Amino acid sequence: MHNIEDFFSEFKKQYQTTSPYSNINQKVLTFELPFADKDYIEKVFLLAKEKFKTWKMTNTSVLVHKMKQFIKELQFNQDKIIYYCHLEAGKSLKDAETEFLRTIEYIETSINIFQNFQDNCFNMDERMAVFSRQPLGVVLAISPFNYPINLLVSKIVPALLMKNCLVIKPASSGTLTATYIFLSLLNAGFERGVVNLVPGKGKEISDLLIKNENINLINFTGSTQVGKYIAKSTYFSQLIMELGGNDPAIVLDDADQKNAVKEILNGAFSYNGQRCTAIKRVYVHENIFEEFSKLLISEFKNLITFSSNIDENSKVTPLISDAAVENAMNLLSESFKKMNPNDFEVFSLNNQITGQKVANMIGKENLFFKEKDTNLIFPTIILIHNSNYDTLIEKEEQFAPILPVIKVKSLKEMIKLANSTDYGLQASVFTKNINIINQCFQEIECGTLNINQQTKRSPDIFPFQGIKSSGISQQGIYQSLINNSTIKGLVIKK
Ligand code: G3P
Repeated sequence: MHNIEDFFSEFKKQYQTTSPYSNINQKVLTFELPFADKDYIEKVFLLAKEKFKTWKMTNTSVLVHKMKQFIKELQFNQDKIIYYCHLEAGKSLKDAETEFLRTIEYIETSINIFQNFQDNCFNMDERMAVFSRQPLGVVLAISPFNYPINLLVSKIVPALLMKNCLVIKPASSGTLTATYIFLSLLNAGFERGVVNLVPGKGKEISDLLIKNENINLINFTGSTQVGKYIAKSTYFSQLIMELGGNDPAIVLDDADQKNAVKEILNGAFSYNGQRCTAIKRVYVHENIFEEFSKLLISEFKNLITFSSNIDENSKVTPLISDAAVENAMNLLSESFKKMNPNDFEVFSLNNQITGQKVANMIGKENLFFKEKDTNLIFPTIILIHNSNYDTLIEKEEQFAPILPVIKVKSLKEMIKLANSTDYGLQASVFTKNINIINQCFQEIECGTLNINQQTKRSPDIFPFQGIKSSGISQQGIYQSLINNSTIKGLVIKK
């Protein structure tokens, strides 16, 4: 039975991370984590390359058995995985549990789809041919902090089912969660070398990982900036990338406003907006802007329950890091500076502030929008009555519970604004008009268009892809299996 103490003892160096819950209720929560050095990383890739020679020949029923065993081992470690996901990512226990259960379903569905893969066969007058799926080799899986279970396992499972070897680099704030997932793989019978975990500070070891010559595929989820760096640094590997998103929601004047409000609040504020698929800006038709805003603000106060007395069940939780808070505060400041104070109002939970009052507070916003000495940002809506500002809070990804809602004159302008950022992950449109749906589907630049519902990736069986700076390649259960493999043909002349 593999255990965490033995695994951690393999590393000479350590470093510390801090839970987002630190400083809440005066508690400080830090973790002592292992740090892989150059030597360790090089050995891991060589071992993975060596193991691949035999692993790729694995009998499929043995592989499926191990994968089913992996589910059992995850369930055995369920409490620890959920607990560390909660502490490391800063999400409620309930959200961490939902993520865990969703991930078990992901594995079960992957096994089913994998077992139904068919080779392509051709029987022609002069030749017969079979094109079958083959592994790529060594896959480097780099997972982010925000879904430390789901976005790691959704890289592990397709890579292993397609008989690749795997090197995992989890986010620093996800290392303990990832370690229990890794131990579950080992205890399920996947050998060291076939699966490998490389813990450490991304900034210091990323070049040693992404530039290694033995990698055949890098599967990365994280920021667009890091994704672009990886894409230009890699030796010669394929790429699957899920990067940033700045998903817009468009509300037309015929929309079911009650439904739109509910979907938008969920889409923008769940997990404090720290989802690449969160709704990050809303464009509302001027004919309904007043009515819609009133409904939005009143439901905002009902639906988003906030208390600065955080416990493990609180839905609104602290942001992942000081840097994340700083980024959000900076986007706010820059946006406020750009606007005429008469053109906007700010609703932070339980407080309404006029643009004029905010204008007098520029430089001191932290005091108002966040809890002192913590990473807890108060959920906030900014109503903007003029669509010409092109503020940073619209343009950039805030990854925080702050939502700009902008009054817009026409559908044409809404589409233009929706397309005005570098991102292209998802978008939502709220309308009953089939012609508008059709036009938006043709014109909005995104991987998935949602009608009358929030932007979201789940259910995981759906294909998932971003365009522009939001990603490379496609995921989803079937697409991930395909993109973790290649094809090899055998053609026989008759
Ligand atoms: O990109 C993170 C993704 O897995 C979030 O899923 O369904 O909450 O959009 P969902």
